[in-house]
Amino acid sequence: MVAFVLLLLAAVAGLSAAEDPNYYIGTGIYDITGPAGGIPMMGYAKPGQLTGGIHLRLFARAYVVAEMRNINRRTVFVSCDMGMASQLVTMKVFSKLKTLFGADMYTKDNVVISGTHTHSGPGGYLQYAMYGISTIGFIRDSFDIIVDGIVESIRLAHHDLRPGSIYYNEGELLLSNINRSPTSYVLNPKSERARYNYDVDKTMWILKMVDGADDPIGIITWFAVHPTSMNNSNHLISGDNKGYASYLFEQKMNPGKMPGKGKFTAAFASSNLGDVSPNTAGPRCLDTGELCDLLTSTCNGKHNPIFSVHRMDSNCVALWTRWADDDSWTPASIDFRHQFVNMSNVEVEVSPGEMARTCAPAMGYSFAAGTTDGPGSFNFTQGTTEENEFWSSIVDAIAPPSEQLKACQAPKPVLLATGEISFPYAWQPSIVEIQMLRIGQFVSDGSPGEFTTMSGRRLRESVAKTLVNNGFPEDTKVVLAGLSGTTPVPRRFEGSIRGAQRYEAASTIFGPHTLSAYMKNFILMAEAMSKGEAVDQGPNPPDLEENQLELLLLNRTHDSKPVNTNYGDVLEDASDTYIAGESVVVKFQSGHPRNNAKDMIGGTYITVDNHPANGGSPVTVKTDAHWDTTFSWKVTKRDILTRGKQSELTVTWNIPIDTPPGAYSITHYGQARTSSIIGGEVTIDYQGTSKTFQVVSARRPAHTSNL
Ligand SMILES: *[C@@H]1O[C@H](CO)[C@@H](O)[C@H](O)[C@H]1NC(C)=O
Ligand SMILES: *[C@@H]1O[C@H](CO)[C@@H](O)[C@H](O)[C@H]1NC(C)=O
Ligand SMILES: *[C@@H]1O[C@H](CO)[C@@H](O)[C@H](O)[C@H]1NC(C)=O
Ligand SMILES: *[C@@H]1O[C@H](CO)[C@@H](O)[C@H](O)[C@H]1NC(C)=O
Repeated sequence: MVAFVLLLLAAVAGLSAAEDPNYYIGTGIYDITGPAGGIPMMGYAKPGQLTGGIHLRLFARAYVVAEMRNINRRTVFVSCDMGMASQLVTMKVFSKLKTLFGADMYTKDNVVISGTHTHSGPGGYLQYAMYGISTIGFIRDSFDIIVDGIVESIRLAHHDLRPGSIYYNEGELLLSNINRSPTSYVLNPKSERARYNYDVDKTMWILKMVDGADDPIGIITWFAVHPTSMNNSNHLISGDNKGYASYLFEQKMNPGKMPGKGKFTAAFASSNLGDVSPNTAGPRCLDTGELCDLLTSTCNGKHNPIFSVHRMDSNCVALWTRWADDDSWTPASIDFRHQFVNMSNVEVEVSPGEMARTCAPAMGYSFAAGTTDGPGSFNFTQGTTEENEFWSSIVDAIAPPSEQLKACQAPKPVLLATGEISFPYAWQPSIVEIQMLRIGQFVSDGSPGEFTTMSGRRLRESVAKTLVNNGFPEDTKVVLAGLSGTTPVPRRFEGSIRGAQRYEAASTIFGPHTLSAYMKNFILMAEAMSKGEAVDQGPNPPDLEENQLELLLLNRTHDSKPVNTNYGDVLEDASDTYIAGESVVVKFQSGHPRNNAKDMIGGTYITVDNHPANGGSPVTVKTDAHWDTTFSWKVTKRDILTRGKQSELTVTWNIPIDTPPGAYSITHYGQARTSSIIGGEVTIDYQGTSKTFQVVSARRPAHTSNL
């Protein structure tokens, strides 16, 4: 915390001589926290990991940047606290933007939507069947909240447009990420590895934005690390390490504002994080604490007893960015390119004269093993290079991979022939998209998927080289915006590595030439951009909205409560007095938080209120979006008679040491839905409040005499 404040103060003080504004800039932030109860989380694909409360709210952070000399030439970057961008979400966002702003203002060509890759948000918003397995189908309310929130963030940024300047900086952050498949990394050529100090990227890339008066209005940072500081036993919605970094930065820059309500917007976006873990102590065995087997990530041959040491706080400290004063100036020019690519069928030259093709999508065995950040649920281990008879017999019974697909995907053993299954609709995409945005000499590649460390480096380098060779400035900076474009899915690449077949390789769905195919298309795009030429638009992806199966319907059950109680009743109350630093816990009889998820966007299920000593009305000091508050929600009982579910909501406030002493209370706002005798649905908005409690200072007040 201290380090962060110091960096920040140095930064703001460091803003020196004002330059003339070189862009129009607008920022917008909007709530995309999906249903906080009963929704499978997107990330670990762990059955039973459902949302059950909120730690941090999720946000879409949008930046519109326009040229000074032509305000209609603009580009938009949106970073969202979500698992990944989604083709269907993006299509719907563009159709809404068209209604709001006309056909040409914000389109697939000039907007990049990127997911931070938090593993602690609700799922159900992707259109391909494979991603609906863990989320039990499509989830309409989850989807709508994300679409509407992204559109709203762009609308806010649009109306915020004003003259400003953009600065670029970069720096190394050590002790904040490790390679989670180091045995795969070392299979990259020695000469290539020798050019780097680390087996992960340690660089944080930063764009800083100030208005015409040189007042800070926002930053976007890119850093390669998985937001998996929260593990797969977590049920609280959270932006994880990146969401926390955004929260901290925005709280410091927007004093007195509730989270998500301030003007200054800080996005911590994803990059080539495919093989990068935040769990810096490495994967260890539960019983011995020893590091587990490097290749298979098992302990004594057994798969499960692994823990990754969680360093949420230290990771976040490391992610807190430097906002230094030696930024370089980027000249004013905006450009963008977008292309759909049929990745099932790209021809690449693997060596001079030797051609090869990418394959229809398929997942390998090691994919099902998961990673050390979140092991899979079945009996798979990483490093699986051969088919397993038991599993292949099951899979063959459902959807046997064709011989052609097996040959194309080799050496990856095919577990799921996702490109060959179309029941009930496509399992994985063939049509994906790639994008490039240019702001001055800063170029962002919107990469569809999770590039690994080395594949990201190769892509950045070859794009930069192509641009510079074709007339871009020598100091052109290329960053990789991960899980973006209209990225339908996580896809990871293992560079040229064929042998190790850990999770990343198994999830490289278009076969061994996946990376070469992306590089080829990005290089062509970079050439086109540097020559001012257009690129081929490519084939449109399908819109599968009508086909989606929605299975997790809320209205199958209703809320219930014990007789003689009311929704909002306090089941466990606060004590009378707390010393700052202690935690208050209050439990309420509650309804299902999914009932009013949409109404609660921009709102809060809980508040901490301060009661002024002079008797004035209470003032809200915390919401459910604060780091120091959490609420967890769980079903406690199913009523056989009414078929309703009783549930409890537990609020915890970890009172910060610097909390002003005084009287406080905690309130929960909710909605309950019950079915009436005649079958209709009755909706009850309720609230409940704890008793008022005192918070006293942790430090002895200065005037206390020493008796
Ligand atoms: C997951 O995180 C929780 C909370 O930090 C911790 O209690 C638990 O042991 C972790 N589980 C594993 C498998 O690391
Ligand atoms: C993508 O390529 C595959 C393989 O050639 C082909 O079967 C498929 O029809 C193509 N899809 C589209 C939409 O062009
Ligand atoms: C895991 O799979 C192997 C075969 O590869 C089998 O021998 C073993 O019994 C399985 N273990 C469990 C726990 O299912
Ligand atoms: C449940 O909700 C879905 C969608 O929200 C709706 O189509 C369906 O008719 C509802 N079912 C009942 C029994 O109310």
